[in-house]
Amino acid sequence: MVSALAVMAPAASMSSLERIYVSSEDFSSEDSLRGLYERWYALYRRDGDPEEKEKRFSIFKVEAHTVYELNEAGARVKHHLNWFADMTQGEYDDSFASCSHRKTPHRDEMKLNRQQPSQYYADKLPVTVDWRTVEGALTRVKHQGECGSCWAIAATDAMESVHFLENKKRTNLSAQELVDCNFHNDGCKGGTAVNAFIYVINYGIQSSEQFPYVGRRTDCVMPPVKPVMAIRNYYHLHPRNEKMLMETVAKRPVVVLVVGANTTTFKHYSGGIFRGPCGIDRKHEALLVGYGTTPSDDSNDPGVKYWVLRNSWGESWGENGYMRLERGNEADGGLCGIMEEPVYPAHPYAR
Ligand SMILES: *[C@@H]1O[C@H](CO)[C@@H](O)[C@H](O)[C@H]1NC(C)=O
Ligand SMILES: *[C@@H]1O[C@H](CO)[C@@H](O)[C@H](O)[C@H]1NC(C)=O
Repeated sequence: MVSALAVMAPAASMSSLERIYVSSEDFSSEDSLRGLYERWYALYRRDGDPEEKEKRFSIFKVEAHTVYELNEAGARVKHHLNWFADMTQGEYDDSFASCSHRKTPHRDEMKLNRQQPSQYYADKLPVTVDWRTVEGALTRVKHQGECGSCWAIAATDAMESVHFLENKKRTNLSAQELVDCNFHNDGCKGGTAVNAFIYVINYGIQSSEQFPYVGRRTDCVMPPVKPVMAIRNYYHLHPRNEKMLMETVAKRPVVVLVVGANTTTFKHYSGGIFRGPCGIDRKHEALLVGYGTTPSDDSNDPGVKYWVLRNSWGESWGENGYMRLERGNEADGGLCGIMEEPVYPAHPYAR
């Protein structure tokens, strides 16, 4: 974690509708680039230290070029100057593209917790699934801030959904409790949703109203109330099985690994069907909340199969915080490895 980024709290008023795109005119002079930076800064940073701001202007100029070139290279996928636009690649890589430590689970755990493939899925799958359209199933997209807590947010997002589906209760669960108190994970330095599920099986979890998100690791101080919910179990899906993943996502959102989110196109993605490239090795975790196929008369990108991924980088990233990414490549684990290790929490109950 880079301490210079401490000022980078997302501005509270940040609207998902405001977008800072970059055009060739922005490069006509230093002044026009400065103007672009000021507009971006007013939206994303505002109250930063002036010296830091000046230093980051030089990073911003490089990123602006990158975004411009990505958009020039293809119209189907869009990029804009989002929250990451004045971060170095290293800062982005460490906190955002590498916050999962997930390894292939231990063989015994796999035996216990492997979901068996259903006999029925092949011809009964819904054509389209999108949990965003189901009132109450998802809370607002979170922003992990300057903290490698993707694993905690992916886990709470998944548990919020299954809690709602089973108990019809809408609750924001506390990712901060997991950051502070889940000692089998590593707070803002990363972790895994699987370890978070094991914690919640044992201890339950507080609401985020009781235990609010601050985006850095603090002492584990439990509020003097009972946890709002717990889960009884979690299940791994068979890796590299698209039908099974579709069938499972049709029933509830699923936590997935995102491998190699450290590419500039992933970082600055702001819309369209993402086709990569993704990098290697680095692991992020996020929530799969749907799938579908673009209409055959879609003017921009017809007939493309995609997944809907819910991220934890705020609503200004991607399509209001979500990414549609190309579905397929089962044998290779899917784009960005998202079919490699899907896992979901099960049997939520109110405490
Ligand atoms: C969850 O948090 C969001 C954002 O802070 C808030 O608007 C919403 O009302 C909360 N939902 C519940 C059920 O508490
Ligand atoms: C992503 O990270 C991996 C592992 O550190 C590295 O090998 C790769 O070059 C990085 N890719 C990009 C685009 O930075």
